[in-house]
Amino acid sequence: MSKVFIIGAAGKIGRRLVRRLADRGHQSLALHRKPEQRGELQALGGTPIAGSLLDLDAQGLAQFMSGSDAVVFTAGAGGVGMELTNAIDGRGLELSVTAVKLAGIKRFVLVSVFPDALRGGRVSEGFENYIAVKKQADVRLVETDLDWIIVRPGTLVDTPGHGKVCADVAISYGNVSRDDVAATIVELVEQPAVNRIIIELTQGDMPIGDAIRRLVRR
Ligand SMILES: NC(=O)c1ccc[n+]([C@@H]2O[C@H](COP(=O)([O-])OP(=O)(O)OC[C@H]3O[C@@H](n4cnc5c(N)ncnc54)[C@H](OP(=O)(O)O)[C@@H]3O)[C@@H](O)[C@H]2O)c1
Repeated sequence: MSKVFIIGAAGKIGRRLVRRLADRGHQSLALHRKPEQRGELQALGGTPIAGSLLDLDAQGLAQFMSGSDAVVFTAGAGGVGMELTNAIDGRGLELSVTAVKLAGIKRFVLVSVFPDALRGGRVSEGFENYIAVKKQADVRLVETDLDWIIVRPGTLVDTPGHGKVCADVAISYGNVSRDDVAATIVELVEQPAVNRIIIELTQGDMPIGDAIRRLVRR
């Protein structure tokens, strides 16, 4: 059984992850920022921890994380403006990396973004900034000596997962259900042999467990 600290636990991927970790017998510490999210996170099988990336300092966040086997960062500003994107997807990630190091935790899974998102379409200045901030977060994490994994999902959809994905270091762009992203992160938590790798992720035809075991052999 692993203890997993989730940053962004009340989000659409985060909630699915809390439930799937509980289903597999893992414990999750679920960082959330609104009091009304507490009950749902508990009902999903997580241990809610109230706190915001905008208010916490690295020491405080490290104390919350203490004793965890892995940290998953799936927080994001959700397109509400460049300032908040910079603060949460950017500086929030940096704060989390510092806290993970202070807490002595090695394994860090970052939910990032597929760099080709919306390529060829008309994108706003805010979206360009979002992609740049996410890329800089990837760079920041890769520079560390943590056992990092960067997951770059394609466009996220809420349709039920199929339990099958395409996952590799470079794949063609596509959609992926949040269910399947959460299921992939659970497999990664259970597969420490996969680390220091960037994984692009879309819907596909390989069972998730097989797709992750295939990455072990890389
Ligand atoms: N949309 C896409 O197609 C797409 C594609 C690839 C990657 N991604 C990335 O995937 C990740 C997760 O996606 P999702 O659909 O699960 O997003 P989501 O539902 O918006 O979840 C993001 C979570 O981050 C939390 N958060 C925001 N500010 C915070 C703060 N100051 N402190 C702590 N937590 C904070 C939010 O809290 P609240 O619940 O309180 O708002 C929310 O629970 C995001 O990083 C996103 O950039 C998205």
